[in-house]
Amino acid sequence: MDSQNKWKPGKKDAVFLAVIIAVIVLLALGTGKRTTKSTPNDQIHAHAVTRQACMECHGVNGIQPRPLEHHVKDDQCFQCHTQPKDWQGKKQ
Ligand code: HEC
Ligand code: HEC
Repeated sequence: MDSQNKWKPGKKDAVFLAVIIAVIVLLALGTGKRTTKSTPNDQIHAHAVTRQACMECHGVNGIQPRPLEHHVKDDQCFQCHTQPKDWQGKKQ
């Protein structure tokens, strides 16, 4: 056997493996404890199909402003706030 090409797990491989396992565990846990509030599944929210529509109520001057420290990069509300079950917009 060609011993030069023989792969032996070294310390770096163990570290690499540990990192991968940690990431998988974190992802698995993350899906379980999603704390961001879902978009309510009511008439208002099912029929609000543009970001602009959302912001008419959730902007600073809206009837239900979002927290001031809300993320700035937020073009896709449903990336974080689960889309209402009966949402009328185009399927994503
Ligand atoms: C006509 C006004 C209006 C529009 C348009 C609107 N919302 Fe709301 N939204 C509200 C009000 C009022 C509440 C709080 C009462 C409630 O839970 O229904 C609320 C609550 C929420 C909440 C928090 C729910 C909770 O449990 O506290 C989220 C998230 C949300 N809206 C996201 C959205 C998104 C995303 C859109 C656009 C698709 C949107 N809203 C459009 C009025 C609106
Ligand atoms: C990057 C993730 C992210 C995106 C994108 C995002 N949000 Fe949020 N939003 C949050 C987090 C985190 C909070 C803090 C409170 C929570 O956990 O709901 C929050 C809070 C809110 C609340 C207040 C909920 C309450 O009653 O406490 C509203 C309303 C809301 N967001 C609306 C929107 C709308 C409308 C959009 C799209 C224009 C949007 N969000 C996009 C992460 C996000």
